[in-house]
Amino acid sequence: MYRTHTCGELRLTDVKTTVTLAGWVQTVRKFGSITFVDLRDRYGITQLLFSEALNGELDANPLGREFVLQVNGSVNERSSKNANIPTGDIEINVVSFKILNKSAVPPFSIQDDTDGGDELRMKYRFLDLRRNIVKKNLELRYAVGRSARNYLHENNFLDIETPFLIKSTPEGARDFVVPSRMNSGQFYALPQSPQTFKQLLMVSGYDRYYQIVKCFRDEDLRADRQPEFTQIDCEMCFVEQEDILQTFEGLVKRIFKDVKNIDYSETIQRMTWEEAMWNYGNDKPDIRFDIAICNLKFPSHTFPTKENQSALIDGASFGVFDDAETVVAIAIPGCSEYTRKQTDELTEWVKRPQIGMKGLVFIKCNADGTFKSSVDKFYNEEKLKAIATAANAKAGDLILILAGAEERTRKAISDLRMYMADKLGLRKPTDFKLLWVLDFPLFEYDEEGNRWVARHHPFTSPKPTQIAEMINNNPVIENAAEYLKHPYANIKANAYDMVLNGNEIGGGSIRIFQRELQEKMFAALGMDAAEQQHKFGFLLGAFEYGAPPHGGIAFGFDRLCSILGGSESIRDFIAFPKNNSGRDVMIDAPSTIDAKQFEELQIKLDLKA
Ligand code: AMO
Repeated sequence: MYRTHTCGELRLTDVKTTVTLAGWVQTVRKFGSITFVDLRDRYGITQLLFSEALNGELDANPLGREFVLQVNGSVNERSSKNANIPTGDIEINVVSFKILNKSAVPPFSIQDDTDGGDELRMKYRFLDLRRNIVKKNLELRYAVGRSARNYLHENNFLDIETPFLIKSTPEGARDFVVPSRMNSGQFYALPQSPQTFKQLLMVSGYDRYYQIVKCFRDEDLRADRQPEFTQIDCEMCFVEQEDILQTFEGLVKRIFKDVKNIDYSETIQRMTWEEAMWNYGNDKPDIRFDIAICNLKFPSHTFPTKENQSALIDGASFGVFDDAETVVAIAIPGCSEYTRKQTDELTEWVKRPQIGMKGLVFIKCNADGTFKSSVDKFYNEEKLKAIATAANAKAGDLILILAGAEERTRKAISDLRMYMADKLGLRKPTDFKLLWVLDFPLFEYDEEGNRWVARHHPFTSPKPTQIAEMINNNPVIENAAEYLKHPYANIKANAYDMVLNGNEIGGGSIRIFQRELQEKMFAALGMDAAEQQHKFGFLLGAFEYGAPPHGGIAFGFDRLCSILGGSESIRDFIAFPKNNSGRDVMIDAPSTIDAKQFEELQIKLDLKA
């Protein structure tokens, strides 16, 4: 037997028992005739005492960090206890030991606050994974997966595997492709998601499907994106949007309870896409704090149902506002006493190329009820007060105003809102706020191709009331300048995203299940009949054999785990992630392949070309 106990389990009640432990040497500390060694395994750390007085034969000198050790000895009460670890009351008086394997000196220290930089830790990820902090993340990931499986199992969902070697399923990203040796010149694509397969399973009558499944997308990487990532992918038959929202609110609440012991009993807020863009400038707003945008001026076509407030700023001969398409403001609580240095710093921040604003206007709502602004020359006290009222600002607040082109300015105010919230500590990783965003536009306009693209994916159904509008209108955009007047511009999707703390953790939709509507959708995206048949003949064909109404959702498993774990970087929650250039620096992939492999695949590679 290699061990009788783990390194995390011995307590005072075990004193005087004889035990055998196995693990890795965390530290070696020598004090004259005694040596302390911390032995570590997955379960914890136990202190070992090598004492010449007890057993003069023992020589702890050869031991080094990360050696694999088996020790035998008796459990003893420690004279100086360590309250920071569960085994801190005891130590092992070592009677004998065996080095099971030696270790080279590790390139960084295996502890929570390691000295290893990102690249080094990724190169030696197997060592990084020994760190407690990383282990905890993987344990949390396991707990989330287990909780999801339990919930879905209890709700009659079947876990069904779908293939990885498939034909391209467009979801907006590029495919990773795999050449086929047996079908020369032809390629499989790795799935961006199991979307079409889960829909086919619905046609087959498996009315509740789920899978915790790898997806592959060749897209630009960010902290919340990996080229291969995992989804909790689900689909249901005979459901409407409301059924899906309720089923998956249940899933997320169950995960909160099982993993974080949080009773998320409050109603999950719902917001239309338009409200999200209007109030937060963002389709995945963080609603843990209630700073909302005041829309002082905006192009009327973007929010046709909203009232214009430009009277508040017009007529003051302030060119920056007069010339701008959009003027938006946010009131930051308790910041009216910002110094010149602080407001300058904010101005510099919005001028960074990533934000791209020309400048920042601010109004200080002083505690005594007066106002001081960077535009005092143009706006008198009364006008500033009117703007402050519109922006919902209280005495003591600092109003920040951005002006410019609609899309960029709205994104900038959204970024500024998050930046200020971070600064003020309003985005605590231990607070959780869920949100459904509903009623996304079905289409987005692609200027370059003067055509429509699917905002979600081509299988999403329009709102039931707008199906006729879609069928009965020609998708072609005759006049690019007036694309917003095209009937398709106003069609809303029967789609929903789940947002947690400002992150999109899941998205889905009610699907198209009639051939005619699906063909119309493909046509709207610029696919002629031949292309539709080539790419999606299997799905269109299946829709002719009794396809039931259906819909579903997929959660970003890695993202969900990272947010529950208090981080916005999903890499920390993936055992072997890729770096920002999509490389696995540990195994050094991607890499070249042998000439012979190319030959077998009948692929000619001309690297000079
Ligand atoms: P969607 O593309 O919105 O929908 O993906 C669902 C969720 O997966 C997560 N996600 C990612 N996570 C990490 N790295 C990535 N590169 C990445 N891309 C997406 C997000 C996202 O909300 N088939 C549809 C689902 C459906 O309609 O049922 C789909 O894949 O959290």
